[in-house]
Amino acid sequence: MKILNFEENNCFMIPFAPPRIDQEIIDAVVATLKSGWITTGPKTKLFEQKLTAYCGNKATLCVNSATSGLEIILRWFGVGEGDEVIIPAYTYSATANVVVHCGAKPVLVDIGDDFNMNALNIKKAITTKTKVIMPVDFGGFPCDYDLINGIVTETSVKKLFQPNSTNQQLLGRILILSDAAHSIGATYKGRKTGALADISVFSFHAVKNLTTAEGGAIALNLPEPFDNIEVYKYLCIYTLHGQNKDALAKMQKGNWKYDIIEAGYKCNMTDLSAAIGLVELARYDSDMILKRKYICESYSEFFSSQKWAIVPQLKTDTAESSYHLYALRIKNCTETQRDAIIQKIFDQNVSVNVHFIPLPLLTFYKNCGFNISDYPKTYEMFSQEISLPVFYDLTNEQLAKVCEAVTLAVEEVLSISEKEI
Ligand SMILES: Cc1ncc(COP(=O)(O)O)c(C=O)c1O
Repeated sequence: MKILNFEENNCFMIPFAPPRIDQEIIDAVVATLKSGWITTGPKTKLFEQKLTAYCGNKATLCVNSATSGLEIILRWFGVGEGDEVIIPAYTYSATANVVVHCGAKPVLVDIGDDFNMNALNIKKAITTKTKVIMPVDFGGFPCDYDLINGIVTETSVKKLFQPNSTNQQLLGRILILSDAAHSIGATYKGRKTGALADISVFSFHAVKNLTTAEGGAIALNLPEPFDNIEVYKYLCIYTLHGQNKDALAKMQKGNWKYDIIEAGYKCNMTDLSAAIGLVELARYDSDMILKRKYICESYSEFFSSQKWAIVPQLKTDTAESSYHLYALRIKNCTETQRDAIIQKIFDQNVSVNVHFIPLPLLTFYKNCGFNISDYPKTYEMFSQEISLPVFYDLTNEQLAKVCEAVTLAVEEVLSISEKEI
């Protein structure tokens, strides 16, 4: 049997976002394999504590993906049929799919120049059915959380809120559930993501800044009267079949009896994943983020001088990205031109990507009645966007090659189209 060799098949290609797998990661995984405990256990619990200390939130539960983390929180909050959840039109499908899974309606709003949901549009979308707002920190750049948190605590907005679950009654307002899939380590007004909204959910998928192969974390930061530790304990049960003891607890001498207190879900993180996460987190600020920042700033330095380029916002007086994506835009270019540019970049053995195909352009959401013409900024940003490779092992030579390949491709396509015009 021929085993597909990724490196062999892509030997000349600059990849888009391979994970950083070095000896430290391999040793941590092997040590966990040899420890005799590979599913949720001491490593996962330690990873949760370290994440809480890192983000400065109140308690953290690790899960098997951001998608399951987002859905678990919608269900915990009692979101269901007849409810509305406000999300950006410009996001990955996971943000919207989880709302659909719960039987609720995703309400899409347009974005601003930073690719994030526009606060004014959020306010206009609020109705008596709104239960949750899910801001997405696109590419790792945090949303304006003071503005968003401010909206849901306004008296007129609180008056619209109609609670229909115990947790909704306790909160007494719309929940801010941040889709922070891209933004671990990003800062806003001196605080880290995870501590900026009521609840934030991180992704540790293989392409993310901080990976556990697959995985995610629910960062709890609920206001009083919630007891975040009690919510954490409840979610441990809810994400493990509704079983009142986890596998490790059941293994203890004579502790085999268990009960199922409700029909829960199954989306716990394994200790194998947490072992990777612990290594990644320990060197995240001092190494990974710095390297990503260097790559993104180098791209900006180069592309700022190109008249056709719009460089992404990575840092302002109040916020700094986690440098997850480098979302370059090509000024005034059409979707067709952008696609042609991408093809010419690939032809030069450089991998690029587009984040994202907006929800209203996807078959399922089109069939739900969403129309891209209602989201003009989303469409404009999408049609001009090309995400460039950002990963730890990207060399200076590769970085220069990416800049050269993009420039050549843009100049070829734009001059071709000028002639055609
Ligand atoms: C904005 C956004 N939200 C949610 C997710 C889902 O993350 P996961 O793959 O960990 O479920 C992704 C994945 O890329 C994403 O980009």
